[in-house]
Amino acid sequence: MNLYIKNLREADCACDALILPVTEGYTGLYNSLSPSIPGLIKRISPKEFLGRQNEVLFIPAPGDMKPEMILLVGLGKKEDISREKERQAGGKAGVYLRDMGMQKIALSTLAFPSLKMYPADFVEGFLLGTYAFKKYVKQSGRKKIGSLLLLAKASRTLKDDLRWSKAVASSVNFTRDLINTPANDMTPGHLAKAALSLRGKNLSVKVLEKKDAQKLGMGCYLSVASGSDKPPKFIILKYRGSKGVPVLLIGKSVTFDSGGLSLKPADGMEKMKYDMAGGGAVLGIFKAVSELKLPVSLVGILPATENLVGGSAARPGDVVRAINGKTVEIISTDAEGRMTLADAIGYARRLKPRVIIDIATLTGACSIALGNGAIAMMGNEKKWVEKIRKSGDNTYERVWEMPLFDEYKEYLKSDIADLKNTGGKSGSLVSSACFLHQFAGDTPWVHLDIAGTAWAEKEKPYIPKGASGIGVRLLMNLIKELE
Ligand code: BES
Ligand code: MN
Ligand code: ZN
Repeated sequence: MNLYIKNLREADCACDALILPVTEGYTGLYNSLSPSIPGLIKRISPKEFLGRQNEVLFIPAPGDMKPEMILLVGLGKKEDISREKERQAGGKAGVYLRDMGMQKIALSTLAFPSLKMYPADFVEGFLLGTYAFKKYVKQSGRKKIGSLLLLAKASRTLKDDLRWSKAVASSVNFTRDLINTPANDMTPGHLAKAALSLRGKNLSVKVLEKKDAQKLGMGCYLSVASGSDKPPKFIILKYRGSKGVPVLLIGKSVTFDSGGLSLKPADGMEKMKYDMAGGGAVLGIFKAVSELKLPVSLVGILPATENLVGGSAARPGDVVRAINGKTVEIISTDAEGRMTLADAIGYARRLKPRVIIDIATLTGACSIALGNGAIAMMGNEKKWVEKIRKSGDNTYERVWEMPLFDEYKEYLKSDIADLKNTGGKSGSLVSSACFLHQFAGDTPWVHLDIAGTAWAEKEKPYIPKGASGIGVRLLMNLIKELE
């Protein structure tokens, strides 16, 4: 989809559909637009359309205007307008117009200043909402929007805001593609290729093979990989937009989680292709950061592997040794994410980063606790926890802090090794973080569990059903605010 800015009067804009965002009791908003508009809106109101949040009304444009059709989209009460509501209205409008087969679309920004709205937020929702995963279906007959024209003066701020929203939205959609792709086409090797495709001026990618991981002593990570014929790929991305100490992002990248010998139930197992959503988000972030040429230093790690049940698969009861020398007794081979992250965190610490942030579909207990409304967050340094919380509020990829009490270590005491990989179902959201904490030590570290939020069972205004791409907007906001 093409995106333009043009300082054109609404009435002079020849397009299939013109979007007019409106608040409840909006009557005065578009008085200047065409003599017939206020009357038109008044005639409709209040019977069919009140301007409530995400309400839409599609009507023929008056004869003295060039647009064919007008889409009124509701923002709700003026005093309750927020950036999130704008994004939702953008998503709603985009999806509606796409489904109506509209090609050339224009957005009026006339009312934006008086409502203190940012056109870029509306556009972001529009670009995110109209995403569709169509890799495996015939393309013919598919409805696709051709262009979105912003009717506005192209100020520096508007151009910068739009550049950001466009890069971030397209990276979220890139991440969604990676996650939605079935596991037979998204193996560790495919994920490594996707990472390599991002190489550029300041962005380099290194892929460690199984033998490298063996040399490094990554026994936890390799125990997960041992059940699959697909070779694991330990993917490392480096982006150098500044000379500073890097922020280090780790994304869980289990391209399929069958549970291993501690096999998962068959019902719903197909969804476990999304167990690399954390890694997918990290790749999306690197794509956006390098596209926007941000002046930051960033390292990304994706310990990619499958979790299958082959003849060499790890057994419950096995003891393996992590990169930092700690021994781990495997109680459940389904608690594999933390095994891959333990070695990734151990490796990451050697690089002496400012902070390690891991993002992972780590526990089913995360969605039991928080549903699909929040990311669970646990960390060992208040400063970073606070920063991420703020980014969560800014982006509406909200996070909720859970405790990291020392007492949880009890859950993970093993009779024969330094620790065991699970303390059972009770408290598994927090004990999984406690496990990771024992590898992070005192390096500033934050863990984000996205098991409840990475997959949308039901579509939301700007999140179609399937992979949500969560984490990209959250951490891009954090990166933007870094000094
Ligand atoms: N990938 C799963 C967690 C998950 C479950 C993500 C459902 C998304 C939806 C993880 O590897 C896992 O299996 N965790 C176990 C841990 C348990 C064995 C302690 C779980 O949560 O059941
Ligand atoms: Mn698992
Ligand atoms: Zn998993």
